[in-house]
Amino acid sequence: MKLWGGRFTKETNELVHNFNASLSFDQKFYRQDIEGSIAHVTMLAAVHILTDEERDTIIEGLKGIQTDIENGTLEFTEEHEDIHSFVEAHLIERIGDTGKKLHTGRSRNDQVALDMKLYTRDEVTAVNQLLKELLNELHTIMKENIETYMPGFTHLQKAQPVTLAHHIGAYFEMFKRDRGRLHDIYERLNYSPLGAGALAGTTYPLDREQTASLLGFYGPTFNSMDSVSDRDYLIEFLSALSTIMMHLSRFCEEIIVWNTNEYRFVEIDDSYSTGSSIMPQKKNPDIAELIRGKTGRVYGALISILTTMKGLPLAYNKDMQEDKEFTFDAIDTVKGCVSLFTGMIKTMKFRKDVMETSAKNGFTNATDAADYLVNHGVPFRDAHGIVGQLVLFCIDKNIALDDMSLEEFQAISPVFQEDIYEAISMKTCVDKRMTIGAPGPEAMQKVIELNEKYLNE
Ligand code: ARG
Repeated sequence: MKLWGGRFTKETNELVHNFNASLSFDQKFYRQDIEGSIAHVTMLAAVHILTDEERDTIIEGLKGIQTDIENGTLEFTEEHEDIHSFVEAHLIERIGDTGKKLHTGRSRNDQVALDMKLYTRDEVTAVNQLLKELLNELHTIMKENIETYMPGFTHLQKAQPVTLAHHIGAYFEMFKRDRGRLHDIYERLNYSPLGAGALAGTTYPLDREQTASLLGFYGPTFNSMDSVSDRDYLIEFLSALSTIMMHLSRFCEEIIVWNTNEYRFVEIDDSYSTGSSIMPQKKNPDIAELIRGKTGRVYGALISILTTMKGLPLAYNKDMQEDKEFTFDAIDTVKGCVSLFTGMIKTMKFRKDVMETSAKNGFTNATDAADYLVNHGVPFRDAHGIVGQLVLFCIDKNIALDDMSLEEFQAISPVFQEDIYEAISMKTCVDKRMTIGAPGPEAMQKVIELNEKYLNE
């Protein structure tokens, strides 16, 4: 059934119908569509456009439709153009002429704007919750690894020693910011477009405050043309989702590298790994790779909607129907990726001994050796040169700085004394980095306490 047949003398071409239709994907927000309609008729009765009986009949009809969709007795059949037509047609079929009053003072333009916002609002909250679960997991790993030494890298070259808690803490900050972005998006999007009509409001005395409040919005939007043509909140959400994926992807990249035979910093659990059909020895980090790969797909959704919106004149244009499929896909993708990622790191084994050995063998304490000399009166530039010689010596002998004998140290500079070993131990190197944000245990402990508070908020 069509909502708009009156003015037409011919049937729609079948290909046109199919090309134009959106039911195959906008059925995803049938629940929000019905919720919006219930708020709409509740308000229509309150302002005496509908009688209370009409309101009740319509609401009962709408609830019946929802129940039947959910128990599988009502199927989405393709003669309906979109979810709005589908629900209205079935309502009329069920309750007769009263059903024809549902759409009083409303357009599909404000209706779809509302549905999409309601849907997005729920998903913003859902993603936020999944990120919180991920942060809880990272927090646990951090608490357990304040003294797990590992090399910190620049240029993927070993640089200075850090701890696993500190490295994981970097990702904690990223996902915390992601949640902040989701919070901001929620605050900005939570205004109701319902009542904006097709573009210019309506001549009915609608109470937009009432529908806004019934639907949990902070209030109504302020411009009816903007209300039906605003998709900023989707762009913001997809941008936040893209950033989440970028963070996950970077983390996955590190895990893939750490999981190699060459690094062996971590071992991904069997339950989160896959094998090879030909090479029996293989255990592949497919999940991490797929998450990294799916990042491109989420970026694609963002670019797609930005491009769709860029040339649109006010107010509603059918182009905007293209806001849905990629957005839904991006949301589902991110939710899947965050959950899987959380499961993967929860079960992943960190090889603490390998990490510590790697930090020692990579001269990550070279800066600290130079600082030792500086503390004994050697100018930094000279100290830098002396430690450079130590490193050359060690490379030649294939040993770590800590493995040199005191005689060997002193042969290069007589300033070195017995306490050099203590000064360049992993523990000292990390312990001394105690400014806030640094890997030293005191600094780390403070941050972990703050994180704990944040997670309990
Ligand atoms: N399916 C449409 C969409 O997603 C609903 C709005 C239709 N409005 C219209 N004027 N054709 O955008």
